[in-house]
Amino acid sequence: MEEVHIYCPATIANISCGFDVLGVALDNVGDEMTVRRIPERTIRITRIEGQDLPLATEQNVAGVAGMALLKAAEYDGGFEVEIIKKIKPGSGIGSSAASSAGAVWAMNHLLNSPFSPLQLVQFAMEGEKLASDVAHADNVAPALFGGFTLVRSYHPLDIISIPVPQELFASVIHPQIEIKTSDSRKILKTTIPMETAIQQWGNVGGLIAGLFLEDYDLIGRSLEDHIVEPIRSILIPGFDRTKQAALSEGALGSGISGSGPSIYAFSRGRAMAEKVGLAMKAIYEDIGLEHDLHVSPINIQGIKIIR
Ligand code: HSE
Repeated sequence: MEEVHIYCPATIANISCGFDVLGVALDNVGDEMTVRRIPERTIRITRIEGQDLPLATEQNVAGVAGMALLKAAEYDGGFEVEIIKKIKPGSGIGSSAASSAGAVWAMNHLLNSPFSPLQLVQFAMEGEKLASDVAHADNVAPALFGGFTLVRSYHPLDIISIPVPQELFASVIHPQIEIKTSDSRKILKTTIPMETAIQQWGNVGGLIAGLFLEDYDLIGRSLEDHIVEPIRSILIPGFDRTKQAALSEGALGSGISGSGPSIYAFSRGRAMAEKVGLAMKAIYEDIGLEHDLHVSPINIQGIKIIR
């Protein structure tokens, strides 16, 4: 096979209590990419549609992630990459992760899969490092594996797939301000009181148990973040009102998607997720801030071939 055309899902990282360790893939928001083999041992980004992003390999997350794979591959040639960017950079739903993960997934596929999913996460993390200064895996892992993923450990890298409750849907509102992940990481505290840590790991355990048990109430009770959300939410106009609107409408829980500014809510059933999405949208209509709304099932497959 010489060429592959793929869908790369958007992702919600952190999922409130799991800063840098939890993430989930979305099914109807994502980029498209075409990757083809070329005889020269290099990565060429030849086209980016939809966003103004650098084509230079070393400045593009797909280029950097792809080079990490190419260095490790026993292959004389290289790859050409085209990206149809539908996820806005700086939106908080894993725009850089979709490009990084998509590039390495497609390249691995075109080489008959010499690398394991865990190795692909490691290559894709190089793209995340370029985008946010930190090689975090909580977006690239769900993009590659699908569903919910837990990064149990970074050293050594250990990623666990968590089951997806069948009726779980996500509503994500993106108020159109751009927050750079690197900036929103700089404002975080580097130490936390023991009491706060206890609350946080209780919620992480509760969320994982809720997902395994398909216990929607437990999932909802566990969607609390005592560490990052109180600080980062200050950067998002209308955050408290939007979260409250989602919860009042019947969402299980709500919080910042990734490093923001997008705000996500989980609901039981599509109809509730749509109602919750409209309630969140109403807040930004009232504030007068441009926004996009996505209501999506959870993507369980990860990156997929579309032709
Ligand atoms: N865990 C990362 C952060 C995700 O919150 O900084 C960025 O999308």
